[in-house]
Amino acid sequence: MQWNSLVALALVAPSHALIRFGCSQLVVDRLDPLVNPGLTPSPHLHQIIGGNSFQPSMKPGEHDLAALSTCTTCQPSDDFSNYWTAALFFRARNGTYKRVPQKGNVGFEGQKGGMTVYYMQNHLGDFQQKSKVTAFKPGFRMLIGSPTASTKEEADKYPQLTYTCLQDMNTRFPETKDFPKKPCPAGIMVNLRFPTCWDGVNVDSPDHISHMSYPANGTFESQGPCPASHPVRVPQLMYEVIFETKAFNNKADWPADGSQPFVWSFGDRTGYGNHGDYLFGWKNDSLQKIMDEECYVNCQTMKTQPISAMNACSVGRKVDEDIGDGGWIESLPGVPNSKIR
Ligand SMILES: *[C@@H]1O[C@H](CO)[C@@H](O)[C@H](O)[C@H]1NC(C)=O
Ligand SMILES: *[C@@H]1O[C@H](CO)[C@@H](O)[C@H](O)[C@H]1NC(C)=O
Ligand SMILES: *[C@@H]1O[C@H](CO)[C@@H](O)[C@H](O)[C@H]1NC(C)=O
Repeated sequence: MQWNSLVALALVAPSHALIRFGCSQLVVDRLDPLVNPGLTPSPHLHQIIGGNSFQPSMKPGEHDLAALSTCTTCQPSDDFSNYWTAALFFRARNGTYKRVPQKGNVGFEGQKGGMTVYYMQNHLGDFQQKSKVTAFKPGFRMLIGSPTASTKEEADKYPQLTYTCLQDMNTRFPETKDFPKKPCPAGIMVNLRFPTCWDGVNVDSPDHISHMSYPANGTFESQGPCPASHPVRVPQLMYEVIFETKAFNNKADWPADGSQPFVWSFGDRTGYGNHGDYLFGWKNDSLQKIMDEECYVNCQTMKTQPISAMNACSVGRKVDEDIGDGGWIESLPGVPNSKIR
């Protein structure tokens, strides 16, 4: 697939404008202020990063993430956004589960769990840097992917959600739509790229997707034009989540039928239900200023904090339950039909 080859090339070619940064874990909890606002617990477990104003209900127009947060787990100190995905579990042969931890990317080894976030502005071939992007507005939120997708056809509606089986920390190909079938020595990297065309009006929509669109043709990376219904080109938000599978790579512990043992927190063993959520929370116009600088990773307009400060920011869990971080658990939190013993 194309996208990561561009990213991989971009890492040695500073003509590409993007920011890329690590974020430590804020909390792992059964909350979803976007899809299930106020519901404690929400249907499945998430791993969340970003500003510490994260809470069960965060209504646009009422909850100003930048004003209400006092710290963020992300490297840019003006970014109080919240970013999350489902959590990942390993299922043992006897049917019990343990949560798979996360680790930072190359360069962010010291971070606690979390993920890597990108805001991509243009594509490697765009040497003139003509591709302006409009930063997200206060209150903006979106999600991509669907936990109910269970076939390749359903997953293909979200073309840029993939998995990379890390042979080492620099592996970037191939990408697959379903979970890797074999043990991945350096972990499983989950890649989520969000749509890049905004309707220019609504900061949210009932399904949290339809105020956004993919380009009319081509991709963001190939400079595909935005459709007339969604004319505003925004940065391409991308998450890389690295699940550290080291403790679970012994083939003797894998299912006897040859299938793979990893399962999303909502019970998906295929991987097709890959999805991610975003609540914009950069302070004032700090993201737009960075995008206008058209810089590559090290941006003068981007204020940063050390990894120790990222790691020092966290919030307590609101839902008191065993999430399989210590011993083995009989079912996935909130998913009773995952109990198979
Ligand atoms: C900047 O953002 C903060 C937090 O959202 C807000 O309290 C403040 O009023 C903003 N300042 C300006 C100049 O817009
Ligand atoms: C289930 O399997 C795990 C992993 O092999 C093992 O550590 C655990 O003791 C087993 N639990 C039971 C109740 O057999
Ligand atoms: C993509 O759409 C634009 C605008 O509608 C059109 O000009 C262009 O030819 C299309 N490109 C391809 C490859 O279809």
